[in-house]
Amino acid sequence: MNARKLRIAPSILTADFGRIADEVSSVAPLVDWFHLDVMDGHYVDNLTFGASTVAAVDAAVDTPLHVHLMIEDPAKFVEVFADAGADRISFHPEVTEDPERVVEAIRRTGAGAGVAVHPDRDLVWAERLLEALDVVLMMTVRPGFGGQKFLTEVVPNIARARTLVDRRGERADIEVDGGVNLQTLSQAVAAGADIFVTGSAVYDGRDPVAAARRIRERLDMLAGDEGR
Ligand code: DX5
Ligand code: ZN
Repeated sequence: MNARKLRIAPSILTADFGRIADEVSSVAPLVDWFHLDVMDGHYVDNLTFGASTVAAVDAAVDTPLHVHLMIEDPAKFVEVFADAGADRISFHPEVTEDPERVVEAIRRTGAGAGVAVHPDRDLVWAERLLEALDVVLMMTVRPGFGGQKFLTEVVPNIARARTLVDRRGERADIEVDGGVNLQTLSQAVAAGADIFVTGSAVYDGRDPVAAARRIRERLDMLAGDEGR
């Protein structure tokens, strides 16, 4: 396998929302995506932010934005998030009767489409929709909160997703989301992931730029090992 481009996508969930523009612009030179976790208090027991926050981040940085919808009825909101600046939109297929229709609605906006795989669920929808997907979002925490522990039992499923994408020759990135930090990064890389969501590992309440730099250095080192 040729060396994959390993990318970092900080989740802003634990960032300082009183200074969100500074929080994202300060780490932007070190990262590849920003990961924006939208929660509606129904699909998960937490409520975060809406399109206006996505628009504020979009105005602050040129970095592409991946909006992760942890909401019921995602089809109703894909356009408003795409208009706010989402370059990719992922949703949880278990919330709808017709995930294919949601993927089509996302792609009609011009944004890339992703399916999020809950740690307790299998890859059936990622597999069924794979050729239409730009990203398979493998959750390594139960959705709802930042700062949780990486669920190592998900690692074999990340490897299965890697085999699936490679065997079918599809373009979808594999993104790992939840509990990714300096200690857990190597497992996620070894399993074949491409993009690594790092929320509390970057927005740690102390120095996000230094934290992002450490993650970047570790990832570049792991990429070097991969390439050997
Ligand atoms: C959890 C979110 C994740 C989370 C990542 O529901 O989807 O993106 O915020 O944060 P950390 O990296 O702190 O687990
Ligand atoms: Zn997320």
